[in-house]
Amino acid sequence: MKIMQVEVKAGRAESEAAQAIVLLHCEGEGLGKQDAAVIDKGLGGALRELLQTREFEGKPHETLVFHSQGKIPAKRIVLVGLGEKKELTLDAIRQALGYAVKRVRQCKADSFTVIAPQVAPRGHSLTEMAQAMAEGAILGSYQFTAYRSDNSPGKDMAAMTVLTSQKATVRQLTEGVRRGVATAEAATFVRDLCNHPSNVMTPSRIATEAKSIAKEENIALKILEQKDMEQLGMGALLGVARGSQEPPKFIILEYNGARKKDERPVVLVGKTITFDTGGISLKPAENMEHMKADMTGGAEVLASIRAASRLKLPIRLVSILPVAENMPGGKAMKPGDIVKTLAGKTVEVQNTDAEGRLILADGLAYAQRYNPVALIDIATLTGACVVALGQFAIGMFGTDNRLKEQLRKSGFKSGERVWEMPLWDEYFEQLRSDVADMRNIGGRGGGMITAALFLSKFVGNCPWAHIDIASTDWSERERAYVPKGPTGIGTRLLLQYLIDRSL
Ligand code: BES
Ligand code: ZN
Ligand code: ZN
Repeated sequence: MKIMQVEVKAGRAESEAAQAIVLLHCEGEGLGKQDAAVIDKGLGGALRELLQTREFEGKPHETLVFHSQGKIPAKRIVLVGLGEKKELTLDAIRQALGYAVKRVRQCKADSFTVIAPQVAPRGHSLTEMAQAMAEGAILGSYQFTAYRSDNSPGKDMAAMTVLTSQKATVRQLTEGVRRGVATAEAATFVRDLCNHPSNVMTPSRIATEAKSIAKEENIALKILEQKDMEQLGMGALLGVARGSQEPPKFIILEYNGARKKDERPVVLVGKTITFDTGGISLKPAENMEHMKADMTGGAEVLASIRAASRLKLPIRLVSILPVAENMPGGKAMKPGDIVKTLAGKTVEVQNTDAEGRLILADGLAYAQRYNPVALIDIATLTGACVVALGQFAIGMFGTDNRLKEQLRKSGFKSGERVWEMPLWDEYFEQLRSDVADMRNIGGRGGGMITAALFLSKFVGNCPWAHIDIASTDWSERERAYVPKGPTGIGTRLLLQYLIDRSL
């Protein structure tokens, strides 16, 4: 999908020529003094009359379109509800823009102007508000049409103008739009990668994507092939890949935008299983096609490093992707097999469907050589996460309170909220093996926790957080700015964390 152009402009709403003007309206509010009132004047009071009838109240999800009939240069007015003013949040703005672009598209228009609210939601800057506006619009207009010969469902949105009547706010709004375009572009990149089926998005194709990202500024790339992994002793990743005809990859991207020479990097590790059949512990057929998105974590760390470079963040960042396809086959790993990890620990593989933690074990062990200031892994790791958290919260674990607090804040800001789960050593009992250092499943109860605890044995002493996005990576229905299918959720959480630590 081509990303829409977003620009900020100072000007008067009543003289703005546009296919549509979007007016964000809080529930129960009047026209105020500025933009809406000025437009209403141009329209001879039509807006005031409409609000009086309460046909449109300004509730979230509410939209209403009417034509200006040439009374002002803009062809249409699109009213979009924001809900109650005192409860206004950044995510309400993001959602409103999601609804707005969809409504504009229904009008068969491909560009629009939105009037920037004059005050940001409480506790947030105008920059953050503009970021949320750009995100909502770009994410809300997302569509994946790569395999449709009729190119349905519709044309891509071409452009959005954020209009402000106050010249002094242009700089802040422009910075917000710059960030929002970058974070939303990253999330749509993740959605694309996850939407492509596994017969296209193979480990080799992931490597190709990494190569094209390495062309961006200040990014270096290293790809380890199977023989390199054998030499290093990545037995866990190699074990998972054994059943597949697709050779595994181990991808490392390094971005350096740091001002100081010897700054320690943030290291991201993303689970990249291009398809998870379960292996010999085969999954049931129902919904198995969702497992083409079992590479969401990897796609997110790829997208994050590209966006960090495009935003020129003054940090060092390393993205690591252990990549494999989990298949049954004549050479596949079998229950009871024992593998030796890069860290030297041995693992009894009781269930080949618990493959994410195996490839991450080698990824996290490899990350140690960077001496990270923060090590974050992100993964569609457990079905138990879906059971525990449903579809709105992301699971978070970690060893470092500051890092967890930062992730909570970034989650709240980005609308991709995390919820902490306990990482108590008592649970490790469930991972004891009779024949190896540990086993890869923890039996009944606390499946998300035992998976995280397994990972914790490979992170050394550095500040570490684990993010389980199995709950949110796939949506069963379309929402304001989230499509049905792969959501890309987690990308903006990571990027917000990186942006906030760069400020
Ligand atoms: N990729 C799955 C987890 C998953 C499930 C992601 C549903 C998204 C939606 C993972 O590899 C897996 O299969 N985990 C097993 C672990 C079990 C065998 C201990 C699970 O959760 O069932
Ligand atoms: Zn699995
Ligand atoms: Zn998996």
